[in-house]
Amino acid sequence: MSILLTGGAGYIATHTLISLLENGYEAVTLDDYDNSSPEALRRVRQLTGKEFAVIEGDAQDRELLVRTILDYNVDGIIHFAGHKAVGESVAKPLKYYRNNLTSTIAVLEAMQQTGVRDLIFSSSAAVYAGDNQMPLTESSRRECINPYGWTKYMSEQIIRDAAKANPEFSCVLLRYFNPVGAHPSGMIGEDPSDVPNNLMPYICQTAVGLRERLTVFGSDYRTHDGTGVRDYLHVCDLADGHVKALEYAASHSGCEAFNLGTGTGYSVLDMVKAFEKVNGVKIPYVIGPRRPGDLDECYADPSKAEKLLGWKAKRGIEEMVRDGWNWQKKNPRGYRE
Ligand SMILES: NC(=O)c1ccc[n+]([C@@H]2O[C@H](COP(=O)([O-])OP(=O)(O)OC[C@H]3O[C@@H](n4cnc5c(N)ncnc54)[C@H](O)[C@@H]3O)[C@@H](O)[C@H]2O)c1
Repeated sequence: MSILLTGGAGYIATHTLISLLENGYEAVTLDDYDNSSPEALRRVRQLTGKEFAVIEGDAQDRELLVRTILDYNVDGIIHFAGHKAVGESVAKPLKYYRNNLTSTIAVLEAMQQTGVRDLIFSSSAAVYAGDNQMPLTESSRRECINPYGWTKYMSEQIIRDAAKANPEFSCVLLRYFNPVGAHPSGMIGEDPSDVPNNLMPYICQTAVGLRERLTVFGSDYRTHDGTGVRDYLHVCDLADGHVKALEYAASHSGCEAFNLGTGTGYSVLDMVKAFEKVNGVKIPYVIGPRRPGDLDECYADPSKAEKLLGWKAKRGIEEMVRDGWNWQKKNPRGYRE
């Protein structure tokens, strides 16, 4: 089986690429390196000792997708490519709608044109409305509060409609919760090109001295310690979820959504304390104001993925903070060393 990974040089895609290669898949990556580096792919090669094809290009380019699918006999696609910074999506909504929606449409058109039937899509917990009961199930109410979330919501709808019109399609929508950590080798990991939006890279950059201190946004949430609670998930567990999703797609048709999370919520201060304890490093922090739109808590009911995909997160908070720090410590400036 040969799999095309759009956005294949990114954080989640490179970890997934390792899982795919280790499970006997062949792979082709297509990335414009807007938020990643070819160095990440070089390291995947080094780490796995396996070859795969690398294409530099834009996932919005349908002709390029068709050519790549035909040249490499692609059997299935994992569509990771997209912009993902929530704050930037509020300031530049059209950039987000254009890239994230056009690329999804181009992938589906290329599937129609070439007869590829299996698609795994990187969706997000950002599709769920803020007034749901926790834990979130796949049928919890969906509504977004920023353009980034809407691009995932709309992409899901576009994929669902395309699957209805093409009954041979088999599409899996993976709603990721909060991926953190890195490959245990410390050779690949998350490398934000800007000031990190997410907690773990910010903690890691503070620990390594790139940032003076962490700002904790809000300490008066209705949680056990007042800071926001999220469902953090080790990126290697998330990567394995894609292999399970491909197996599921191969034996089903239609369109199905799955939460990928651990089902356990940790607060910002839980993560800081675990990081300090496991790694023996102090994280200076200050309490700042709440960020608009942030919820008290957000965590998954991952039981559908366990039941239908046979997937369950295996790695706990210690591995998340240990592997995240191992990557940052070995690569203080990410792939730019
Ligand atoms: N990291 C998270 O917290 C999270 C949570 C939920 C969903 N997701 C989604 O998962 C996917 C992967 O996320 P990530 O964290 O690995 O991000 P990432 O930025 O590391 O990876 C995305 C990759 O896509 C590439 N890309 C963007 N637009 C492209 C285009 N038009 N053509 C070709 N390549 C393009 C980027 O260069 C990058 O390598 C994204 O769709 C993201 O929205 C991420």
